[in-house]
Amino acid sequence: MLNKKVKSIILAAGKGTRMKSEMPKVLHSIFNKPLLGYVLDAVNNINCTDESFVIVGHEAEKVENFVKSYCDNAKCILQSPQLGTGDAVNKAAPYLKDFDGYVIVVCGDTPLITSETIQDFVLFHDNNHADLTVMSAIFENPKNYGRIIRDKNKKFIAIVEEKDATPEQKAVKEINAGIYCINWKTVSDAFNNLQNNNAQGEYYLTDIVKWAVEKNLTVQSYILENNEEIFGINSKVHLAQATKILNRKSVTRLMEEGVQIVDPDTTFISPETTIGADTLVLPNVYITGKNIIGKNCKIGPFAHIRDGAVIGNNVRIGNFVEVKKSVIKDNTNVSHLSYIGDAELGSKVNIGAGTITANYNPISKVKSKTIIKDGANTGSNSVLVAPVTVNEMASVGAGSVITKDVEAYSLAVTRAPMKILSNWVKRKIEQLSGGNK
Ligand code: UD1
Ligand code: CA
Repeated sequence: MLNKKVKSIILAAGKGTRMKSEMPKVLHSIFNKPLLGYVLDAVNNINCTDESFVIVGHEAEKVENFVKSYCDNAKCILQSPQLGTGDAVNKAAPYLKDFDGYVIVVCGDTPLITSETIQDFVLFHDNNHADLTVMSAIFENPKNYGRIIRDKNKKFIAIVEEKDATPEQKAVKEINAGIYCINWKTVSDAFNNLQNNNAQGEYYLTDIVKWAVEKNLTVQSYILENNEEIFGINSKVHLAQATKILNRKSVTRLMEEGVQIVDPDTTFISPETTIGADTLVLPNVYITGKNIIGKNCKIGPFAHIRDGAVIGNNVRIGNFVEVKKSVIKDNTNVSHLSYIGDAELGSKVNIGAGTITANYNPISKVKSKTIIKDGANTGSNSVLVAPVTVNEMASVGAGSVITKDVEAYSLAVTRAPMKILSNWVKRKIEQLSGGNK
């Protein structure tokens, strides 16, 4: 248990120029979840933050809309113009008057930070009764980061930005990760004393270190072992690198839990997907969002599971199958070339190749459900126009377009009756060769 309450401030007002995008940087996604979503989750999952402040500026409205839709304990605060990270944190000060607790500050563009690390970081701060704790890491190539400056006795005394650093300071490999834990009561006054007489003409958050040291407060650094976690996204190259890192973590975790992944390099599985032991995932599978997949399933190759799939045990999701927001019960097969969206499939259902659940009406913009009950099957190339139910053990004939519910144990077919025109080809050939004489 912590001695104090925790609130968080997430810095997300910057433009992210190097993304070369019209979209604000923090709304760029990995596995369909915006970078800011990862950071909000990381601070919220430590179970002791009761409120977060997101500092918005560039494209503030878009960022605010996302935050509102994503969690209900976060408040957006506008910073305009953007005068630096210190000014950004100061924008939350009016909401923190008399707050006697810890404020964690995190950047909105570091999606790899985990709640375990933040939790450990806050505990470290709390156990040492510190006034200010800065997360640091050791980088062989520390370029562009602020450097952790220590005195002769190794005491942490300041952070110096790359652009303000002397050659000697630039050689320091311990960098500022940009994550802070602040005892608000003792340190908040620092924000009223920031100056912008530096290389960038900005109010630096990092200057609170020097202020606190001068006031004889307890200032410490928390050295993060796994420096991958503080990777900040500045470009689309970084976005792809972060996707790879997250993916590697998630496929490794799944393999350790007993899932067989044939080729981790071509398999993408979102961190919020769980998969049961002995399920086999074949190459070129792409799984985004939150999904639950059972044991002994076979997924892929080339399957796409988009979000909200709840799949039982012994299920087959084969090549070129897309599944979205659907429940699929045990022992059901969707083996090839099908789209299963907003559907509920019972157990022992067999979905023929090329079956489509037509869930979306583009005129009304309404999405509807398809229900296929236990033991039912659909023939190849059938279209199930939702809302529609195919009841227990019913059968849909190949090539049918189903617009009405199908009774249990019945066959529904909508194709025109088959005709045989005997010797039709022969007559055509004869006609043609006769014409050529
Ligand atoms: C900052 C730190 C640096 C650290 C690095 C870690 C400062 C002065 N420097 O540098 O020591 O090593 O992070 O990644 O803090 N932002 C605002 N409002 C502003 C300016 C920035 O909200 O007025 C936000 C940005 O959107 C971004 C974050 O603050 O999410 C960091 O800003 P950025 O300009 O990227 O700082 P760095 O130069 O990376
Ligand atoms: Ca940055």
